[in-house]
Amino acid sequence: MHRFRIGVLTSGADCPGSNAVIRATVVSAHNLGWEVIGFIDGYEGLLFPKNYKPLTLENTEGITAMGGTILGTTSRGHFVAQSFAGEKARIPQRIIDEAKKTVLDLGLQALICIGGNKTLTAAEQLFENGVPVVGVPKTIDNDLSATAWTFGFDSAVHCVVDALDRLRTTAASHKRVMVLQVMGRDSGWIALYGGFAGGADVILIPEIPFSYKSLCAHVEKRMSGGEASTLIVVAEGAVPKGGEVLVVHGTTKVEVRSAGVGPRVAQEIMDRTGRETRTVVLGHLQRGGAPSMNDRILGIRFGVGAVQLIREKKFGHMVSYLNYQTGVVTIKEAIDQIKHVPPDGQVVKTAQAVGISFGV
Ligand code: F6P
Repeated sequence: MHRFRIGVLTSGADCPGSNAVIRATVVSAHNLGWEVIGFIDGYEGLLFPKNYKPLTLENTEGITAMGGTILGTTSRGHFVAQSFAGEKARIPQRIIDEAKKTVLDLGLQALICIGGNKTLTAAEQLFENGVPVVGVPKTIDNDLSATAWTFGFDSAVHCVVDALDRLRTTAASHKRVMVLQVMGRDSGWIALYGGFAGGADVILIPEIPFSYKSLCAHVEKRMSGGEASTLIVVAEGAVPKGGEVLVVHGTTKVEVRSAGVGPRVAQEIMDRTGRETRTVVLGHLQRGGAPSMNDRILGIRFGVGAVQLIREKKFGHMVSYLNYQTGVVTIKEAIDQIKHVPPDGQVVKTAQAVGISFGV
């Protein structure tokens, strides 16, 4: 009889802190005498010809401090193509069946799925088909309901703050307006926290449709009032009132890619105020690099929590983080809806209280 064996995979967009989860999973499992195997490139590793490797204390040593994921990942492929939040789109049954067969053939007692909404939607479907899965929430966007924080978010926000600190000096030297576009197709958490901590003058997020008229009036008031610069943080999915989210031409509802509204915002400001304006698209810099202290710790807590869920046989559940404690929620609950920034929430109100405009 072979040892108790579990599998782990990372799927969807990569995220700093994923390796911390993997390492903590391996250490916790090892302490229980379990074996761990890691699937390569997310769920794809479960499909023919099967791609996986043993994860040991030795080959995961030191990975907690590394960005990305040592297992590789994909946000495309067989498992994400037909699944997204709040909709009943399904992964084809033959793909689910093949994955389930791999889990059985390899004698896995559980599969830890580390990912965001699409990954967890796939995990839920596997669970409904009898695969013993547990979930770990992962996204820099922090837009998963049922958890206050996801690892990767803090590192992304650090990146935004660093960018703003740098932009401030060059903007002030040239008396310019700077538009910094950050990630956040559906939610504005990165823009809100990054902009707030980095001292942005304006923050535009999907949850608060803005008006070009109000935005430009605010910029003009600042610049003509003698301010040296105006820093604007824009979530890629921010929308003007009555407008639509800009998506990359040719992408479908299933695989939407944001085209980003940042350059349009900059152009409108230049056209309407005549102020010299530049755009910076921060892009994938936000996802790269080493995880912050908070993301390492949260990743470790989630990894240990996932192994605990397996011990308790809480399959179909996900670790979460609420009220400073890791907890547990059903995956179903977690994927039910995206967690949006509450437009009237305390953080938005506090930002407004210190003079940050939301372009309304
Ligand atoms: O993690 C999600 C996300 O960061 C979104 O905010 C962004 O739109 C997307 O990833 C971009 O992903 P990629 O270009 O890697 O497909």
